[in-house]
Amino acid sequence: MSVQEEIQRLRELIRYHNYRYHVLDAPEISDAEYDALFQRLKALEAEHPELITPDSPTQRVGGAVLERFEKVRHPRPILSLANVFSEEELRAWEERNRKLLPDGTPLEYVVEPKIDGLTVVLTYVNGVFTQGATRGDGEVGEDVTANLRTVRQVPLRIPVTGTEPPPARLVVRGEAYMALADFEAFNRRQEERGEKTFANPRNAAAGSLRQLDPTITASRPLRLYTYAIVDADGVEITRQWDVLEYLKRMGFPVADGCELCPDLDAVMKMYRVWESERDTLAYEIDGVVIKINDLRVQDALGYVGKDPRGAVAFKFPARQAATKLLAVGINVGRTGTLNPYAILEPVRLGGVTIKQATLHNFDDIARKDIRVGDTVILQRAGDVIPQVVGPVESLRDGDEQPITPPTHCPVCGEPVYRAEDEVAYYCVNASCPAQLVRKVEHFASRGAMDIVGFGSRLAEQFVEAGLLHDVADFYCLTKEQILSLEGFADKSAENLLAAIEASKNRPLQRLLTALGIRHVGSIVAGILADHFGSIDALMAATEEELQQVPGLGPYTARAVVEFFASPSNRAVIEKLRRAGVRLADVRAEAPAGPQPLAGKTFVITGTLPTMSREEATEYIRAHGGKVTDSVSAKTDYLVVGASPGGTKYNRAVQLGIPMIDEEALRRMAEGG
Ligand code: IVH
Repeated sequence: MSVQEEIQRLRELIRYHNYRYHVLDAPEISDAEYDALFQRLKALEAEHPELITPDSPTQRVGGAVLERFEKVRHPRPILSLANVFSEEELRAWEERNRKLLPDGTPLEYVVEPKIDGLTVVLTYVNGVFTQGATRGDGEVGEDVTANLRTVRQVPLRIPVTGTEPPPARLVVRGEAYMALADFEAFNRRQEERGEKTFANPRNAAAGSLRQLDPTITASRPLRLYTYAIVDADGVEITRQWDVLEYLKRMGFPVADGCELCPDLDAVMKMYRVWESERDTLAYEIDGVVIKINDLRVQDALGYVGKDPRGAVAFKFPARQAATKLLAVGINVGRTGTLNPYAILEPVRLGGVTIKQATLHNFDDIARKDIRVGDTVILQRAGDVIPQVVGPVESLRDGDEQPITPPTHCPVCGEPVYRAEDEVAYYCVNASCPAQLVRKVEHFASRGAMDIVGFGSRLAEQFVEAGLLHDVADFYCLTKEQILSLEGFADKSAENLLAAIEASKNRPLQRLLTALGIRHVGSIVAGILADHFGSIDALMAATEEELQQVPGLGPYTARAVVEFFASPSNRAVIEKLRRAGVRLADVRAEAPAGPQPLAGKTFVITGTLPTMSREEATEYIRAHGGKVTDSVSAKTDYLVVGASPGGTKYNRAVQLGIPMIDEEALRRMAEGG
């Protein structure tokens, strides 16, 4: 497809989604996806300015007015804001302004959060709320007075504070939005009732405000904050900072954390503060708004199109971007799973350049109909691995190639296998080198056999050199063999041998974790170790016996039996035995004295200050408690560390399960 054609297609697409969003109230894509398309168009136009036409969506702000609400002409145009995305662009904005202003004009700024909601314009006559409108196209909006009356943060009458009477006529501008927790609860409720759910708080707020029946709006958790005066009879305010103060005095909600900054350095500081707090706020913000404090200076600067020069939105790095899917690669996992990943035309997203992203599995690819050659939407939340959300089907030109699951392992060439009830494809060749690298890496990792210093780089090196054919080969390595590898000297070889030797004596739970049996992570390994006490007892167990063990499910039982049924796995166990690796726990005498945690079940989430997950598990067990993997009604306590997992945490909140930190756990265990 030529650039000209792509630009044309993008414009049509953006116009279509504008219509869905602004006119029909039924967006088909998220705002972030829309932004990604818009940014792509802008980038192409920037590269080819000769192709820009006045009707391009980048050249116009706003959308059409809905027919079903009364139209309201705004007393003054309700302007939009230009965006900047970097410090350089911000400084260039100031420079442009300075050139238009008399030399030496002092420039102070007010920095406000840019809450992701929708603009509303509220009119008060003699202190009484008379009209509320949406922005519409900036000149004419929709009358949503009855709906806005239901928003509790909208004052129906300006409260008398002090001696200052409200002006005869006051028009304020603000943002209607939904807080994150409200949004999630609202969406859950909608889902339970089988009603429409929303992609994000912004869509939910917009959909809620544009309801024809105000009782529906009343049942939606809308909120408001205000940030500008559109019109105020007889009120002389010349600074944005005073606007915010005045609005607060008049009883309007103003966002917390607005800041007066003497220069752009201070502005940058505030930007970084907001950015770092972005994920902890009660509401979603997509950037900060920076306004010249002196409103007369703002007025003097005038407009470019519909954007005032005196204020600008400094947007946070996008969490979504559009780019081309060039090819699909396949990673071989430790258990032989063949994991597809996307090889992408490099694109900047959230401050880093992304060339690869996960594609989950082949079912997911088929369900989303992702094809090689597609323009795809990428998503990155926080520091999470980027994912391919899906293709932009309307940008296809017919040359895209469907993606088919592999028939052979890309590394060893053996045919692949797929279990009926699973989505993953497997390479079942036990000696597949790619799997072996992952297995060896896992065996040596912390929480498993903990062979200090042996990471993924060494795993590859040792397997490639033919020194490790299975995990038991660790215990057959000689100093000469290690010294034959690049990067090893006497001392480092000895250190490695010592680390391997030390690993022979790990508790059974660690060994069971290290073997990499499917569905057996450290928690399940602990249950198995507790119940059976030795590898021999575990190997002798039948599937039925395993299923009887509390905390084990049928999949795990089957996986354990299958693992030990394999002759090659049994050979590995025998090799470990001959090498002197501990295969059984020395059962401690039933502990004397009281066991303060007896009968209590714990779940651990997040990073604890002084104990690893495994240590905490052992600690709880040693004091009589039980540790399980997921939160249920049977959980007594959730032990919470730093960066807790959302699922466990939220479930515990829902079920009202008490949460404790490491210190409280220790107090409890020591009988305090
Ligand atoms: S000032 C000329 N301040 O962002 C004044 N806008 O991208 C222009 N927004 O349409 C608006 N928080 O809906 C302003 N503190 C804030 C804002 C804010 C959110 C929204 C508003 C505006 C859009 C511009």
